[in-house]
Amino acid sequence: MAFTHFTVKKIVHGLGAIKEAAKEVKNLKGSKVMIVTDPGLAKLGVQKPLEDALTAGGIEWKLYAEAQLEPSMDSIQHCTDEAKAFGADVIIGFGGGSALDTTKAASVLLTNEGPIDRYFGTNLVPNPTLPFILIPTTAGTGSEMTNISVLADTKNGGKKGVVSEYMYADTVILDAELTMGLPPRVTAMTGVDAFVHAMESYCGIAATPITDALNLQAMKMVGANIRQAFANGSNRAARDAMLYASALAGMGFGNTQNGIIHATGTTLPTECHIPHGLAIAICSPFSVGFNYIANPEKYAVVADILRGDDRAGVMSVLDRAADVESAFRDLLRDLDIKTGLANYGVKREDLPACADRAFAAKRLLDNNPRRASRDQILALLEANFEN
Ligand SMILES: [Fe+2]
Repeated sequence: MAFTHFTVKKIVHGLGAIKEAAKEVKNLKGSKVMIVTDPGLAKLGVQKPLEDALTAGGIEWKLYAEAQLEPSMDSIQHCTDEAKAFGADVIIGFGGGSALDTTKAASVLLTNEGPIDRYFGTNLVPNPTLPFILIPTTAGTGSEMTNISVLADTKNGGKKGVVSEYMYADTVILDAELTMGLPPRVTAMTGVDAFVHAMESYCGIAATPITDALNLQAMKMVGANIRQAFANGSNRAARDAMLYASALAGMGFGNTQNGIIHATGTTLPTECHIPHGLAIAICSPFSVGFNYIANPEKYAVVADILRGDDRAGVMSVLDRAADVESAFRDLLRDLDIKTGLANYGVKREDLPACADRAFAAKRLLDNNPRRASRDQILALLEANFEN
């Protein structure tokens, strides 16, 4: 059987790497750049070092600070129209997952007929995108490394993905200086999300030796640094490690899929407005408790990483694997993240519909190491409602 592994074309990384931005634009034969970010970041001026680097390098740029939290189809068209009107030859996505997803989708529409919904699905984009650079400012989504743009389907409801081999970034710039200002709560939630990407990919059915290498390193770096980054956001070494870990996990799960944690975490009631990383954290302990018997060898490794202790030869594989739920709960306790769903406005009567939606997330559950029925998912949600 043949496997394929995709990844971005180029990664420029290290503290201060943002200073290379103009050089990277020129390498892409660009001279007019549209920076896509969201209004919150723009208000804080987080993009200032990027603007300065472009100006210093003689690149003409325009700031587009209207990326939406859950990008709508109209917002992608608007971003595309603005880039066309400016005459941009390179787009830079700067920010969290939504700014990066907006950039990927707008880059598609700059070289392909709209509207964007005609490309919902996998590999339906006919032409290569306009060149684009992605610069993450959080350590969590790994979106800079993947080829999917998740958008709100404003015609039919729900979220849809545009997935294409053309949508890997031409260049990714990883500079943890840009993440130094993240508050502790965001650091914790997004950091757990990065760990879960690596873990679900590592323990999942589609794992390969290539994704294992990426995911193991990602989990080790999160395990060794997330508490420090949460406790003191000025810890540069911890911030640096977390950004690398998030990117490595993106390179891993982008080639496999996630699993039951993302299936349950992304289907909690939308009216509760639980941020993605938090929803993932809440659903992690019970999910690993459910999963570990399907792949004890790998969950033993995960538990050891969470404990910061190699217990191979000291404890049995099964005992180490059985510790994974408790090790995960200890991590969340240190990060001040409560688990029980009731803490976040979820109502007990919501749970059957959550279980229905999670069970329908076939793309995710197909990669989960343990087969899960709708009733098993419901039982897990009910058992973790109040704890
Ligand atoms: Fe995630």
